[in-house]
Amino acid sequence: MAAGETIVFDDMSKRFGAVHAVSDLTFTVEPGRVTGFLGPNGAGKSTSLRVLLGLVNPSTGTATIGGARYATLRDPVRRVGAALEATFHPGRSARAHLSSVAVAGGIPRARVGEVLELVGATPYADRRVGGYSLGMRQRLALATALLGDPGVLVLDEPINGLDPEGIRWIRGLLRSLAAEGRTVLLSSHLLSEVQQTVDDVVVIAGGRLRYTGPLAGLGTGPVTIVDAPDRPALAAALQGAGFALRVDAGDLVVDADPADVGRVAQAAGVALRELRQRSGGLEDEFLALVGQELPPPPPPGSTPIPGEAPR
Ligand SMILES: Nc1ncnc2c1ncn2[C@@H]1O[C@H](COP(=O)(O)OP(=O)(O)OP(=O)(O)O)[C@@H](O)[C@H]1O
Ligand SMILES: [Mg+2]
Repeated sequence: MAAGETIVFDDMSKRFGAVHAVSDLTFTVEPGRVTGFLGPNGAGKSTSLRVLLGLVNPSTGTATIGGARYATLRDPVRRVGAALEATFHPGRSARAHLSSVAVAGGIPRARVGEVLELVGATPYADRRVGGYSLGMRQRLALATALLGDPGVLVLDEPINGLDPEGIRWIRGLLRSLAAEGRTVLLSSHLLSEVQQTVDDVVVIAGGRLRYTGPLAGLGTGPVTIVDAPDRPALAAALQGAGFALRVDAGDLVVDADPADVGRVAQAAGVALRELRQRSGGLEDEFLALVGQELPPPPPPGSTPIPGEAPR
């Protein structure tokens, strides 16, 4: 097994024409830990991972593995295992696909049977990949990544498409790979999907870094549910006081203490019909970080804002 290595994104930006897919991204991914790379659809996760793996060039900045760009690594198959979009030649079997990757990378053929077994793909390993389900393709992508027994694993949405048993299995696998000292970086657009698996998280939205650090550092702030017969007036008062608001399952949610929310409402002369603290701030903090907040209030006299449904 190759040793885990540190992944470093240093002020990396990627533009596609006018689209700023990723801007000024700086973070570090450590060996021996599982790191979740989180953000909503279009946040820039796949683009960042593609830059890391040398599939596209950054516009500025760098992304390195063990201090070097992927393209310059010697023996990359044994150092870095990657699973991006799970697309394979449809006419080939999983075994044939893995065998060709093994031959190209100078990996003993015997390893093919091992990784098929490891991901639970042995029963269908000789069927054409074109007939595989999403979960079966995901397992094959993971098998391909593990072929060289690499110290670094870079996986784009590896849990997507797996059944509950598969999700439990991959959680255990990723944790054990990190426990062996490997670097495990996986992306997801759902915090809840990776919450039980990751040690660290990197949160991006709109191509920009929103948080990097231990999972335990998220979800520590107070969250309040508040409502008023005149919800637009309440929202305007809270936003005017600088609080971040959002609507979640019909509730108006504020990232602040109930006492502070009550004080602002009183100062604005808004009567309340509900004011309570909500527990379990992890998901709340994640949503606040990725910026699914209400838009700023419209000028007085125009149509009222706070929607009854999330945007
Ligand atoms: N080849 C490309 N040409 C033009 N724009 C691109 C290209 N690749 C990505 N983008 C844009 O870059 C942004 C980030 O896309 P990216 O695929 O990295 O997001 P993501 O976080 O992986 O999203 P998802 O959760 O949906 O997979 C999007 O606005 C996307 O349209
Ligand atoms: Mg993606």
